Amino acid sequence: MLTSNEIRKRFLDFFEKREHTVLPSASLVTTDEKGQTNATLFNTAGMQPLIPYLLGEEHPGGGKLASSQKCVRTNDIEEVGDNTHLTFFEMLGNWSLGTYFKEDAIKWSFEFLTSKDEGLGLDINRLYVTVFAGNENVARDEEAAGIWRAIFNEHGLDPEKRIFYLSSKSNWWTAGPDSPAGPSTEMFYDVTGTLVDGLTHEEFLKADDEQKVVEIWNDVFMAFEQKAGKVVGPLPKQNVDTGAGLERVTMVVQGKTNVFETDLFSDILESIKKDALMYQGISARIIADHIKASMFLISDGVVPSNKDRGYILRRIIRRAMVNAQKIEIPFEKLADIFVLIQKQYDSVYGTMQAQSVVVFQDEIAKFEKTLISGLKEFEKGERDAFILFTTYGFPFEMVKELAFSRGESIDENDFHSKMKEHQDKSRLGAEQKFKGGLAGHSDMEVKYHTATHLLHQALRDVLGNHVFQKGSNITPERLRFDFSHNEKMTPEEIKRVEQIVNEKIKDSLPISFQEVPLEDARNKGALGLFGDKYGETVTLYQIGNGDEMYSLEICGGPHVENTNTLGTFKIQKEEASSAGIRRIKAVLE
Ligand code: ALA
Repeated sequence: MLTSNEIRKRFLDFFEKREHTVLPSASLVTTDEKGQTNATLFNTAGMQPLIPYLLGEEHPGGGKLASSQKCVRTNDIEEVGDNTHLTFFEMLGNWSLGTYFKEDAIKWSFEFLTSKDEGLGLDINRLYVTVFAGNENVARDEEAAGIWRAIFNEHGLDPEKRIFYLSSKSNWWTAGPDSPAGPSTEMFYDVTGTLVDGLTHEEFLKADDEQKVVEIWNDVFMAFEQKAGKVVGPLPKQNVDTGAGLERVTMVVQGKTNVFETDLFSDILESIKKDALMYQGISARIIADHIKASMFLISDGVVPSNKDRGYILRRIIRRAMVNAQKIEIPFEKLADIFVLIQKQYDSVYGTMQAQSVVVFQDEIAKFEKTLISGLKEFEKGERDAFILFTTYGFPFEMVKELAFSRGESIDENDFHSKMKEHQDKSRLGAEQKFKGGLAGHSDMEVKYHTATHLLHQALRDVLGNHVFQKGSNITPERLRFDFSHNEKMTPEEIKRVEQIVNEKIKDSLPISFQEVPLEDARNKGALGLFGDKYGETVTLYQIGNGDEMYSLEICGGPHVENTNTLGTFKIQKEEASSAGIRRIKAVLE
């Protein structure tokens, strides 16, 4: 039986032998370089790094290319745990940039699937294909159907029971509304071993629905350009773009009915089984997939955060943690699984960075406490997704899933309207308080914003409680902070303030916020009370928890999640601003 490593290698060797240049996988993180038209956050298909070339640019590797590309897709994240869905997968692909077209593409696909010597040695009796049925813009793909017909005839199989014309939805492929596009032919394999005599169109659709036949390869004849979802014309060249998911191909080659039983997952699941006190298959699969995706994302430089790629990574890690909690695997074991996966793939996509597990561990540590207390609240009946998000850091999707797994539903509109209200209020608060100083919310500005809170408190600690913020201005390069104080600060005082801020950074204090009535904020002694102008409720930002709480301030945000992301704090200047007001300029390095 071929291993997944052998399959990957066979694929690349097969096409190399047919004059294709084998390309290394691009990073999972997409770039916008070279006019990539549909910049998704991650590569979701092997063709994505090749978009400029599919649109007509010359590729240095020539007109025939092949690769095994790392991909992350999160649009089906809720389906992970069934037989075939994954967030991380490897896509095997071959491309023609204006060289060969339908005939060679289909013949090579067929040859690779069925050849015992060079390919996978799959059984042609279990093979079914679909072709494009046509629409108002592009005709039914008789050419592709004809090529398949000849192949099936040659092997004594009735083409009518093997080839199915499908509508534009399933057999028109594009990477997005603005993208090269084209009709496709998809290959399906019977995973039951019982559907060997051919199928009617209806039987095929039913078998597909029941996952008895599984799509294993897609050949796209990428000859059109789409803009805003509409075909605007032919591409300069007729290209071929193919994609075969390694996990699914391995599944059929290894005679399994789900991807988690292949050698791409068996060790990982074994290890999860060993560590889980309350083992459950679905949760184990989710953990396996999500830690694998996290490992690859972190290795490609993604860091958990509240935005874009970082948010997706964070969500994946948190989802893995929720499932770990469910089947009772200690969180520290998750890092072992991470390392196990790293070893499994080491050298397949270049050497993995050993230290990336630290990023993973840090994120787990960050969420561990809040996860446990948040879950407790949830168990006690808290169903307000807004509270669970703002107080416990539970992403909305997670609250929804938790509720769903208990047969309940969560009011999505309520969550979104509370979030919007909160954001509007925050924006207003920020505008009032910072007098326009916090114009944009770049990462650096957010860091300076949190540093400003630390500085405010540190000044009060060193100089006394007469110190209040009188003004603040933040740019991505520095913070400027005006405060009430009558004298020039001494070098010792400046040094002490710097020291305190840097200690708080080193202490890795988490930042959290809460919506509270103004009265409560006042009673708690929060800073930043400017009369009642914030209205009835205010947002209270807290740096550090429990005994470690260092700063409590009414503010519109946004802030970093943890002080440990701030770097080193340095006061560059301390000067008079106006009578009784001093001004500090400081940087984070
Ligand atoms: N780009 C095509 C796919 O991802 C091959 O299915």
